[in-house]
Amino acid sequence: MTVKHLKILHQHNNPNIHQTFEKDGHDVIQGLTATPKTLPPKYFYDDRGSDIFEQICELPEYYPTRTEAWILKQYADEIADITGSCELVELGSGSSTKTHYLLNAYQKVAKSLTESIPDAFSYIPIDVSGGILKTTVLALQEKYPNLTLEGLIGTYEEALLYLGKNHARSRMIFFLGSSIGNFNEAESNEFLNKVSHALTQGDYFLLGIDLQKPKDILEDAYNDSQEVTAAFNLNMLAHLNWRFQGDFDLSLFKHQAIYNEVDHQIEMYLHAQVEHQASLDILDLKVQFQSGESILTEISRKFDLEKVQSQLRSQGLATIKIWTDPQQWFGLVLCQVI
Ligand SMILES: C[S@@+](CC[C@H](N)C(=O)[O-])C[C@H]1O[C@@H](n2cnc3c(N)ncnc32)[C@H](O)[C@@H]1O
Repeated sequence: MTVKHLKILHQHNNPNIHQTFEKDGHDVIQGLTATPKTLPPKYFYDDRGSDIFEQICELPEYYPTRTEAWILKQYADEIADITGSCELVELGSGSSTKTHYLLNAYQKVAKSLTESIPDAFSYIPIDVSGGILKTTVLALQEKYPNLTLEGLIGTYEEALLYLGKNHARSRMIFFLGSSIGNFNEAESNEFLNKVSHALTQGDYFLLGIDLQKPKDILEDAYNDSQEVTAAFNLNMLAHLNWRFQGDFDLSLFKHQAIYNEVDHQIEMYLHAQVEHQASLDILDLKVQFQSGESILTEISRKFDLEKVQSQLRSQGLATIKIWTDPQQWFGLVLCQVI
């Protein structure tokens, strides 16, 4: 079966998008020349990274995926009833596994409308990881033959720029998996501002967030006993080697995730075990590591529902309803543009 509905955004001839693509790798140079060293989490996701993330979702310690899936399973119909039929846009869709609950609900809502609105049931999954998006789009084409589908390979920023606003019909952008937690406060404001700009008044934004909880539960989730998260973290260096012709030796680094209780965030590190140098030829970059020096590869902020609502409101996104699980470990916030 061929993929009919996939677009690579950085090949699109939008001058703004081209500019974003040209900057590819600048964030790596910036992060690895900073003190302390950091890397952007989007570099976790090459084909192998996406594959390992799917394994993480199945780990007994990794509660976020199954908890958010439980909420979606319980409340997808209610969400679709509130918003009515709308164009569904998912940022960082990955395998879209949890999205099936929403798609099933919106398919029902669209059923009565398909004669008056031909694309009443439509979905735009967006992901920087092209391999998993292609596989996902193929599977969706087969499972939902009546779905108007267009997968976009690119970053959140590229996709939001490319999509612009949809004045013709209402839209719901959704962002699951608490991926918003990978942004610090300033970055998340910038991100929400871009989301807001891709919506018109009355449109919706659905956000999945991991809530604050005891340190041991959080640290176990990111330091699993099978060391799958360690492999995921180390794979970022393999990805950089492939993308930028590098020579990072993965065996010289060790994974660690700690919960910073002051900033309410998991911090994921790669610690250099010995003093050494690594190069990324395409970026013309040589990086010196001291023994014990760390690269911060991800923050995963844990949220307070009151604070999130006021942050959303400051970007013109008013909360309509919040759903959680019985333990209040995870939250799903539906907002509307005011
Ligand atoms: C933590 S996974 C979540 C996947 C899925 N939404 C879920 O909830 O299970 C993050 C997803 O976002 C994608 N991603 C990460 N950074 C991205 C970026 N800057 N732009 C677009 N996609 C990104 C990854 O490839 C990955 O599929």
